[in-house]
Amino acid sequence: MSVKQDQMLGFDEHDELVRPAPEMVEFEETAKSMVSRRGFLSGGAAVGATAFVMGSTTFAAGKALAGEESNKMSRLAFDMVKANTMDTVTVPQGYKWEVLASWGEPLFSNAPAFNPATGGTGESQELAFGDHNDGMALFSHNGRQILCVNNEYTNASTLHANRTDGVPTTADDVRKNKAAHGVTVVEVARRDGKWGIVKDSEYNRRITADTEMDITGPARGHDLMKTKADSKGVVAKGTWNNCGNGQTPWGTYLTCEENFNGYFSSSDKNYELTPQMKRYGISHEDRGYKWAMADSRFDLSKDPQEPNRFGYIVEIDPLNPTARPKKRTALGRFKHENAEVEVAANGHVVVYLGDDERGEFLYRFVSKNKFVVGGDNNDLLEEGTLYVAKFNDNNTGMWLALTPKSTGMSEAEIAIYTREAASKVGATTMDRPEWVASNPNKAEVYCCLTNNKNRGVKPNAGGDETPAGGPNPRVKNNYGQIVRWRPEGQDHTAPKFNWDLFVMAGNPAVYDDAYAGSKNVNKDNMFNSPDGLKFDSKGLLWIQTDGNYSNEKGFAGQGNNQMLVADPETGEIKRFLVGPKECEITGSAWSADRTTMFVSVQHPGEKGDSSWPNGAGSVPRSSVIAISREDGEMIG
Ligand code: FEO
Ligand code: CA
Ligand code: CA
Ligand code: CA
Repeated sequence: MSVKQDQMLGFDEHDELVRPAPEMVEFEETAKSMVSRRGFLSGGAAVGATAFVMGSTTFAAGKALAGEESNKMSRLAFDMVKANTMDTVTVPQGYKWEVLASWGEPLFSNAPAFNPATGGTGESQELAFGDHNDGMALFSHNGRQILCVNNEYTNASTLHANRTDGVPTTADDVRKNKAAHGVTVVEVARRDGKWGIVKDSEYNRRITADTEMDITGPARGHDLMKTKADSKGVVAKGTWNNCGNGQTPWGTYLTCEENFNGYFSSSDKNYELTPQMKRYGISHEDRGYKWAMADSRFDLSKDPQEPNRFGYIVEIDPLNPTARPKKRTALGRFKHENAEVEVAANGHVVVYLGDDERGEFLYRFVSKNKFVVGGDNNDLLEEGTLYVAKFNDNNTGMWLALTPKSTGMSEAEIAIYTREAASKVGATTMDRPEWVASNPNKAEVYCCLTNNKNRGVKPNAGGDETPAGGPNPRVKNNYGQIVRWRPEGQDHTAPKFNWDLFVMAGNPAVYDDAYAGSKNVNKDNMFNSPDGLKFDSKGLLWIQTDGNYSNEKGFAGQGNNQMLVADPETGEIKRFLVGPKECEITGSAWSADRTTMFVSVQHPGEKGDSSWPNGAGSVPRSSVIAISREDGEMIG
């Protein structure tokens, strides 16, 4: 691919291209599922699954969402930000923002200064804040604040500004590209009223695509994990495409490997891809990163098992800079979005996990051992059972265990070929599960199903059909929705749950049918493609979008990507922030005193039309921003 990366296909388009051409499928259910907007509004007598949007008999939620009474009752005490297409960050009156850190900023004083003209070198990038910041978590320790931030992927035109069309050309370009991926661990502080990174802190650390890490869990040492460089299958080199994240109660950071497939290629164009490679979108062509040019482990024809070592959750101890990260294969291998950790009432640790690809699944891990306050909890994610969700149309659902008995696969095979295992037990194909967030006030969990243009159109990469229905009610779903479920008996380890849809995004200015969205979406607060999701300490739900920012046709009036806040009790949703041009808003964390909220602004100007945050004529840079109130009060 000799195209500028910024003009490259998106991850999903790349997958569709490399995947064997699926047959078009006609679903009879399509017509039935095309319910009317009237259906949402009546909230009970609707046709099909959308009867279960807010205020259903299962979850008695919605009061009137508009009008004086709800304003008086609102817990969202700020003036909503209007949708816009400006090249800046907009927050409500009474709030302010500043940049905390940007791609390329040195973490150490011996590192060269950021060079916007070239995008730096391999060496400078290894000592600097990574690109495309995404999920993050803050760790407070002895009055110090350590932020772990994912660096998902790269903006070729800026990172490789030293090359024509942003194409990595030399071994050092590949080194730089690999170093721009992974995780940045950095101490942060507010000094003289301004947030910034603490240069040379002993906690500062870069974890990149070349950092050694231990493989743990069922896949450790399995034949499928053995490679040329690691004949025992126990040490993997690096992590990349780190999307969402998690944070454990025992003080570790979880980083989630998402579109790991797009970095592999084959120099032998006749190399026969296995069905398992195809299921994960691994193909002869990479997505333009060209890592195989300088590192043969990315060449499938030379090291075909290397991809089996990626697509996992990685656990990092941010307070021990020399501790090796651990790949937790018990949590499965797929395109991991985030990892939402709950300690169930019975002490088992539950991790909710989404696989972000059209028609893939939603998972739950339950640890074998129990969390003990003050005990040694370091290896709770090493052993346990993985489950996959099955949603029934009648608002009920079940977690299906992935075991040797239910799948006919060994524990190691389940860990490595998790998608195949989930297909075997008949899990529900979802509209791209992105972040999962668990309500701190009750046993209730939310997941963004960001969008799925293939819903009701074609099967997933494993051939599982994707009929419209249940929590994925709309064919050609361009807007997305948020599903929520309550485990039976308020027990996160229970086999059953009830579910409903908290919101269906849409555009009521353009449509008056199902694509208008649910009743808590209106012309003033509308959005598309919910992605990031997190609860604050008050139990309010922060929703971030990674969607279509064309502001045209079906997306007219929705402006740039944004962050909204929702009240899970009333269903009320208000827009809190609008990002700069061509960005997505993703990932969040709060300062120890909760007067500051940190948010990732990722890939501003991904198509070339932004100079945020440094202003006219400068290269756009992914950055973490710090948002606070003018009056210094808590923000969430
Ligand atoms: Fe990296 Fe599914 O977002
Ligand atoms: Ca992203
Ligand atoms: Ca995401
Ligand atoms: Ca997304």
